[in-house]
Amino acid sequence: MSDLIALCSVDAVSEDAALQVGHDGRDYAVYLYDGQYYVTADLCTHGPGFMSDGFIEGCEVECPFHQGKFNFITGAPTAAPCTEPLRVWPVTVQDGQIWIDPNTGTVEGAT
Ligand code: FES
Repeated sequence: MSDLIALCSVDAVSEDAALQVGHDGRDYAVYLYDGQYYVTADLCTHGPGFMSDGFIEGCEVECPFHQGKFNFITGAPTAAPCTEPLRVWPVTVQDGQIWIDPNTGTVEGAT
């Protein structure tokens, strides 16, 4: 049984930058790319940078702190100094809202 929470309206998300959404003590970054929505952890795995303050290029986000990069679809690091993946959550779009189950996020390669 899933436990979906609504993060934000689809209208609040643009392709230009990830949207930071705080929920229950956790910060999420919400992305729009090629008509699809994606959600990752907002905090960089390398340090104090937030993906929502970063630069978007295609399906990559560049951390503003040390310019490391991640693929925000998979969470995989794509440029140094980032080596640990971002946690990602499957997205459901319903009633104009972006929904995730906070308990089902995954880190690529984690068991
Ligand atoms: S804090 Fe993000 S690359 Fe270092």
